[in-house]
Amino acid sequence: MNIAVLGAQWGDEGKGKVVDLLTPHFAVVARYQGGHNAGHTVYVGDRKIILRLLPSGILHSHVSCAIGNGVVIDPQALFTEIDELGRFGYDVSNRLLISERAHIILPYHRELDLLSEARRGERKIGTTSRGIGPAYEDKIGRRGIRVIDLFDRAGLEQEIRENVQARNRLIKESTLDWRPLFDQMLAYGVRMKPWVTDISVFLAKTSAAGRPILFEGAQGTLLDIDHGTYPFVTSSNSTIGGVCTGLGVSPKMINGVLGVVKAYATRVGEGPMPTELVGTSGDRLRDGGKEFGSVTGRPRRCGWYDAVVARYAARINGLDSVALTKLDVLDGLDDIKVCTGYRYGKDVVSEWPADLNVLAKCEPVYETLPGWSRPSSGVTRYADLPREAQRYIAFLEEITGVPVSIVSTGSGRNDTIIREKSAAAEWFGVAIT
Ligand code: GDP
Ligand code: IMO
Ligand code: MG
Repeated sequence: MNIAVLGAQWGDEGKGKVVDLLTPHFAVVARYQGGHNAGHTVYVGDRKIILRLLPSGILHSHVSCAIGNGVVIDPQALFTEIDELGRFGYDVSNRLLISERAHIILPYHRELDLLSEARRGERKIGTTSRGIGPAYEDKIGRRGIRVIDLFDRAGLEQEIRENVQARNRLIKESTLDWRPLFDQMLAYGVRMKPWVTDISVFLAKTSAAGRPILFEGAQGTLLDIDHGTYPFVTSSNSTIGGVCTGLGVSPKMINGVLGVVKAYATRVGEGPMPTELVGTSGDRLRDGGKEFGSVTGRPRRCGWYDAVVARYAARINGLDSVALTKLDVLDGLDDIKVCTGYRYGKDVVSEWPADLNVLAKCEPVYETLPGWSRPSSGVTRYADLPREAQRYIAFLEEITGVPVSIVSTGSGRNDTIIREKSAAAEWFGVAIT
């Protein structure tokens, strides 16, 4: 079985933990979009490891990890991450594969990201300032530099020269020299070369040999360039379609889709978030869930579970099943609210609106459920969850229309419930009831 694991909210749902947990059931983990704007946290014992570009399966030595054509790669960030893992004792060198078609983030993309945000002023996106947007702009503008271009000296020189000249025209008083950049990119190419291959061919062969693949998403459905809260989104397709375009695989190769959903909502950066809580309730979730960005350290905006968002993610991605994370963060709350729809004037809106002006006027309609006093933290059997926590999960399943097959009750690998007779139990042949 090849399974896609992707974020169903605004990112940071706990994809890293879930992917790391499921990796022993796969031969390959493949990232299909995004770049080092992602921060996927994995705990191995007490050691915290944050993966940005490398797939979150990389900590398992039997697994190959592929970076697809849909990913944008900052070579320096890639090498830093590889070196960091090396210091932790993880040798990735013989099981990393990088698409020859992936696009490169150059240093000037980062500058353009910062400049674009400064120009937008109060309307800024709140990007991670990693140059992600400008790199994808160059890709779509058909002037991007791909991994394979790093090996074509003459072509690379021309591309870099023209791009730098264009950039110098764009940024007043800029006199960036293309030559050192060219030399740097050639050197990056030399280091990257042993890993570079045709990922589409590799994955097709892997699948044909009956070796299972996990497709790993970065960011989340509401940050998708097409289906998210545009323009407050990232610049790639984090939703299911990105698997096919970002890896060169057929939709028939995706046998199941697992949505990672936090038991409440968070968002980093600007843009609409209907259930956002400001004040002490929001602080309680932020402190309890340690909701600070793993890339930029920014405090995450926190709020109640939003079923309009979850249903939208279920439809766009065809979610078969949900991995519900951070249930333990709700431990000890007297009441827990769930947004079941939005009130817009006299109407109740149950589908996610495209118009941000409409969204701004939407008032969440809440259902209040009782909290639980006995902790769910660290629970590994569904039956051992407090009764109210089970009711909360059943309510989310009902209101969202997707069964929850995995419940995460802590950041560690073991703080996990895989439910009996669930999609996950069927896919992975395990059930910790
Ligand atoms: P990702 O970007 O989707 O991989 O998520 P992040 O790693 O950015 O953020 C999720 C954070 O929550 C990380 O610090 C995880 O270690 C942590 N986490 C994941 N699952 C759980 C859980 O069930 N309970 C708690 N308390 N923390 C969790
Ligand atoms: P993971 O994979 C949460 C947000 C940024 C900003 C917007 C655009 O860890 O879930 P970008 O730098 O991509 O141009 O920023 O997207 N963003 C994320 N938010 N988790 C992420 O990744 C994110 N990657 C980008 O905060 O609002
Ligand atoms: Mg993250």
